Formats: sequence, structure tokens, C-alpha cells
Amino acid sequence: MADRMKDSLLQNLERLRKEFPAALAQADDEAKLLEVKTEFLGKKGRLTEVLKEMGRLGAEDRPLVGAAANEVKQFLESEYDAALRKFKAAQIERHLQADKFDVTLPGRPEALGHLHPVTQILDLAKDLFERLGFVTRTGPEIEDDFHNFEALNIPVHHPARDLQDTFYLQGRKWLLRTHTSTVQIRVMKGQRPPLRMIAPGAVYRSDSDVTHTPMFHQIEGLWVDEGITFADLKGVLSLFVQGLFGASTQVRFRPSFFPFTEPSAELDMSCFKCAGKGCNLCKGTGWIEVLGCGMVDPEVFKFVDYDPDKYQGFAFGIGLERLAMLKFGINDLRLFFENDIRFLRQF
Ligand code: DAH
Repeated sequence: MADRMKDSLLQNLERLRKEFPAALAQADDEAKLLEVKTEFLGKKGRLTEVLKEMGRLGAEDRPLVGAAANEVKQFLESEYDAALRKFKAAQIERHLQADKFDVTLPGRPEALGHLHPVTQILDLAKDLFERLGFVTRTGPEIEDDFHNFEALNIPVHHPARDLQDTFYLQGRKWLLRTHTSTVQIRVMKGQRPPLRMIAPGAVYRSDSDVTHTPMFHQIEGLWVDEGITFADLKGVLSLFVQGLFGASTQVRFRPSFFPFTEPSAELDMSCFKCAGKGCNLCKGTGWIEVLGCGMVDPEVFKFVDYDPDKYQGFAFGIGLERLAMLKFGINDLRLFFENDIRFLRQF
């Protein structure tokens, strides 16, 4: 009777040892593993059942069954630990597989931007004028009639106002400046001669075709001092076009008219493509029109309280897009503002 009891307990223990690994193997997540552990090793688990039965054993059998029970308990615990470790390792491995990336693959290069062709020309021009002592000044794009017209000797009803299709704001209170000549007035109002400035910036005219856009850029130039002559104008502008288009570039002046300069001129340069022989770029003339310029009209000096008998000056106005078109061989002005990356990338 006592032997049967002892054998039955030992068999039960053996069953636990066999069934536990199989049960663990069925569990497919951590919670299930823990369930299995509780079923076998928990306070009300199957091992505890066996231990309770031991009370009914004779004293001589207890050490043997006790030792067997202990051994099975340790076995179950180490099996559980091993299963948990295996499960965690598999989990890490799964993550590694899922998040796998190849560190030897080449990186994706970032596309580097570069300066817009008009900005490039502006930088070149600024650099050339700065080397001649010109200081860069700026003024507002929203202007009033005084700075855009009146102080530049363009009174109301002057026909020159019709040449520039002005965008007006709030009735006629304000306007978008039609040229950077406005900055001449602002700088002269705030400063006594001598002065030597350029003023780059956007200007606006109600105009749109292959060679006109409603917004474009100019560089205004102004040098005022005692004894400035047309020869200074010629010297400065010759260096400028030679700096941009090559040292052998020639210049010539054609008489012109601007209300704020007297005399006024258009400056042409010898064609850099055919060196003056005549080609499609210069339309067979050998010359290319570059900018407008002249000696500051004494009337303008009166508006800014400069003494016209003491001071002379010259001024010029350069269309930046036009220069960029010449320099880069571009035939449609509007391309500059469409910002098609395939176009811009070429410069
Ligand atoms: N303001 C003129 C224009 O927009 C350009 C110009 C011509 C500016 C002659 C000048 C100048 O300073 O002297 O057409």
C-alpha cells in the first residue's frame, strides 16, 4: 500500500517532467509561457498537488520522494528559464530581420542648389562696382510719385510717364517703383556728396512678352562729386562691361533721352560673339545695347538740395535680366521666372 503510494507519486513527478517541456513548446508568446509555468509550478499547480500528497507517505519514503520532487522542480524551473530565453532571443532575431538594412549601400546624395543666373550676374556686377568704390544701397519697392517721377524731373503730364506702364496702389497714392532711379533720390536726400553708389533691386512695369516681364531687376548707379565728367562715366562703364564680357570689349555711346540726365546716352558694347564683325546676336551691327546713362540733370540736384554749380555726377541704369540673357545666351526673358529646374540647372 505504502509502496503503491510512493510509486504513484514518483510516476506523477515523471509525468510532470515529460509533459512540461511539451507544454512549453506549445506556447507561442510570453503570456502563454507564464500560463504553463503557473499550471505546473504555481501555488495551486500540479507540482504542489504532488507535494501535498507526500503528507500521506510513510516517514521512510519521504526523503526519496522529496528529493525526486525537488529535482523535478529544479528541472521545471530551468526548462522554463531556457524557454523564456529562447523566446526572447527569437523575438530579437525577428526584429533584426524585419528592420534589416544594408549599411554598405551608397547613400542618397542631396542635390546641391546654386545661385539663380540673375543673382550670379548681380554678384558679378556688384563685385566689379565695389572694386571701383561703389557702395550698395537699397530702397523700397513701394514708392510714391515724388521719388519715382517728380524728383527725377518727370513732372505730371510729362510724356515720359507714359513710357513706363506703372502699377498704382490705393488710387494713385503709392506705386510699385518702375525703376531703381528712385534710390538715387533717397540716397542724395540723406547724404551730402561725394557719393558713389549702386542700387540693385526689383522693379515693376505692366508689360509682358518675350523681352518684358512685369517684374525684373535693375542696378542703378550714381557718382556725384566735384568735377565729375562724362570721361569718368565712360571709364567706369568700360571697366564694367570689360569685367563682364572680356577685356577687349569696346564701348560706344549713342545720344538718347532720359528726363533725369543731360546729356543722356545709350551705351553699346562691341559684340562679344563676333567681336564686332556682325552676327545674329548683334543683328549684323557688331554692337549690342547694354544700358542707359548720362550726366545727372541739374534739375534733379535741385530736388535734393545739391548745388548744381558745385557738383556734377553721372548715373546709369542696367537691366540685369538683359545682361544675364546676353551672358548666358538665353532668348526668352520669361524663363528666368518660371523656375523650371531643368532650365536653372544649366547655369
Ligand atoms: N531709369 C531708367 C529706366 O528704367 C534707366 C536709367 C537710364 C537710369 C539712365 C539712369 C540713367 O540712372 O542715367 O529705363
